[in-house]
Amino acid sequence: MKAVILVGGQGTRLRPLTINTPKAMVPVLNRPFLEHVIHHLSRHNASEITLALSHLAQPIKDYFGDGSRFGVRLNYVLEETPLGTAGAVKNTERSERHLDETFLVLNGDIITDLDITAMLDSHCRKKSKVTIALTPVDDPTSYGLIETDAQDRVTRFLEKPSWSQVTTNMINAGTYILEPDVMAYIPPQTSFSFEHELFPLLLERGVPIYAYPSAAYWIDIGTPEKYLRLNKDLLSGRGGQYSLGSGGKVVIGEQSDIHPTAQISGPVVIGSNCTIGQGVRLIGPVIIGSGCVILDDSVIEETVIWQAVNIGKGTAVRRSIIASNCRLDDGSIVEEAVLGDNVTVASGYKLEAGSKIWPGTAVG
Ligand code: GDD
Ligand code: MG
Repeated sequence: MKAVILVGGQGTRLRPLTINTPKAMVPVLNRPFLEHVIHHLSRHNASEITLALSHLAQPIKDYFGDGSRFGVRLNYVLEETPLGTAGAVKNTERSERHLDETFLVLNGDIITDLDITAMLDSHCRKKSKVTIALTPVDDPTSYGLIETDAQDRVTRFLEKPSWSQVTTNMINAGTYILEPDVMAYIPPQTSFSFEHELFPLLLERGVPIYAYPSAAYWIDIGTPEKYLRLNKDLLSGRGGQYSLGSGGKVVIGEQSDIHPTAQISGPVVIGSNCTIGQGVRLIGPVIIGSGCVILDDSVIEETVIWQAVNIGKGTAVRRSIIASNCRLDDGSIVEEAVLGDNVTVASGYKLEAGSKIWPGTAVG
């Protein structure tokens, strides 16, 4: 099956992590987010994939190339200006490979272990024109609420409802299976959205849209808090096929040097070429990217650290996200903070909890 992944959003709510890094390249278990999504697709035989891009496209192309390294065929289609979710898919018709058979569309900011194969079976059995995966959430107000009848036929869409409009906890999970004739409803080279425009229009015209509700693991990386939660979930064995395995595991990359007095309580993943000093305590879930140095007696707890981060002696980092090339000097304290790339924190400085520090800032 062919698939289109929407990766053109700006990732505004994930700032400062997404200022220099596209949302799709944000590392999860030390691999770009999108790599996990592509693996999931290839497991369900959706290996001819078009990436619909607009913002920060080059790093994505550089990393994924033609897809052969990941066992898929990748095709890139760029929008000069963002065309909205449906407009972006329509825009991919310009590429050589047309969407001429049942195909898949995915929001590119979601990790799920949804059974796409079973969803496709349901789509075909019901002779649906559009099938939308649904997932339950506690707070539907930041998602697209979807009402269905007893046969799972969609009866109403309500994008970003207010609490007074909430009638169900089932929301659009951002995975769609579509028939190619639906494309005729999307105007070319015009900003057009699935959620606000195409789906309500199809409903109005009586085109059959079905839901595929699922209790599979599902999370979107909409915010730094959710990004941290995703990493913790996967490390702790939630998320099915994405996870490392059972909780408590410690994985250490090649050429990394861990001092024998360091205490590591998993789940902890350490990338390659890292140095972990004497008496350092790593209290999982912790992920450390490649080329990081953590000097003596520091404590790192429930934290995700990207690449080439230098952490001095006696520092404490808890429940935080530290992007690439940051430097935390001796004795600094960083808790519940999000640091963009190339941030430095001065020796002995305690960052205020909840801080979000923009790339390149020198703090203290
Ligand atoms: N190529 C392209 N062009 N991609 C886009 C564009 C565009 O103009 N606009 C958004 N995208 C991509 C984003 O990168 C993201 O992967 C996906 O489309 C969805 O956009 P978001 O901006 O993340 O939407 P949302 O999170 O507010 O809501 C959507 O996802 C929810 C589930 O997480 C909606 O589909 C909701 O109905 C849904 O519940
Ligand atoms: Mg989103």
